Amino acid sequence: MSESNNTPLLLRAARGEKVERTPVWMMRQAGRYMKIYRDLREKYPSFRDRSENPDLAIEISLQPWHAFKPDGVIMFSDILTPLPGMGIDFDIVESKGPQITDPIRTQAQVNAMTPFEPEECLPFIKTILNTLRDEVKNEGTVLGFVGAPWTLAAYAIEGKSSKNYAIIKNMAFSQPAILHSFLSNIADAIAKYVCYQIECGAQIIQMFDSWAGQLSPQDYDIFALPYQKRVIDQVKEKYPDFPLILYISGSAGVLERMGKTGVDIVSVDWSVDMLDAKKRLGKDIILQGNIDPGVLFGSHDFIKSRIIDTVKKVGDQGHILNLGHGVLVGTPEDNVRFFFETCKNVKSFL
Ligand code: CP3
Repeated sequence: MSESNNTPLLLRAARGEKVERTPVWMMRQAGRYMKIYRDLREKYPSFRDRSENPDLAIEISLQPWHAFKPDGVIMFSDILTPLPGMGIDFDIVESKGPQITDPIRTQAQVNAMTPFEPEECLPFIKTILNTLRDEVKNEGTVLGFVGAPWTLAAYAIEGKSSKNYAIIKNMAFSQPAILHSFLSNIADAIAKYVCYQIECGAQIIQMFDSWAGQLSPQDYDIFALPYQKRVIDQVKEKYPDFPLILYISGSAGVLERMGKTGVDIVSVDWSVDMLDAKKRLGKDIILQGNIDPGVLFGSHDFIKSRIIDTVKKVGDQGHILNLGHGVLVGTPEDNVRFFFETCKNVKSFL
């Protein structure tokens, strides 16, 4: 068999090759909307156990794979998972979300960060990615992911999920030197972490800068973009052809800027029409997205019409179907199944 026959569809699309159909996966495709996940969560209530015990993380990563056969399998983990390896401890508390034990507020805390050695602090990631590659074979593509510096800093500084980012913005706009040194440290650690995931078997990596859309474009250029780029440049220096995706929630105001970071694929949220996204990003950037996760609360006919509409707008090349953000808690599993099935057969409906 030729290399291209062995290479899974999503990976070929991510490399910009011409493909037989648009591949599809879903952000947050493993998680609470699935009963099988909720049942397992009752037995193993600690999120850190579920994501750091490789047997559990592998089982959870494969739950959507077994249920829906998406084209991509994303490892079950969290963007916060590498933080303890930098000396920042966290937990994820039921109904409260992420909690940082000792939020970063001073230069002394930044200076006291632990040098990040992913092989030592994240050995389970190697087991998870190795095993997922073996399980998925070449029938699907294994994705790794990381958080981008701004979004990780937002959690580490605020100490938890935030509505208005007052604490990090206070630091950004009154003591920017502390924030810049923190963002630099995180960027260098995350670049190492991306390379480690690649070496462990990840075939595509998505960088989530979920909360960079909270910055004005002017401040995005100061606090988010340079550090996204710092990660991407370091990874591309070592692995120039490795496909990288960048995602931001609420990215309409910074879409062109995202395309200038050096990523291969921009994951577009539903605040932008895909026709506009295509025009704004140009032909060299592959698009991912961008169906409103809320559409999965609609009827089958409605879900189908939105998938067709999205594919018609982007065309059948240079596109990876996905939602515009993670699948929501409470989404009917049958609608997720219908979404995947319809995406895979979309050509017959055009
Ligand atoms: O896509 C996948 O299937 C992999 C799973 C995944 C998780 N977190 C598991 C998880 C991914 C890709 C993430 C990334 C992540 N984590 C992001 C970026 C993606 C995005 O949505 O923008 C962010 C911002 C976080 C931080 C975080 N972790 C939040 C806001 C929460 C939810 C808090 C809550 O309870 O609602 C978490 C916890 C978390 N990470 C859960 C899951 C399935 C829910 C907790 C649980 O299942 O017990």
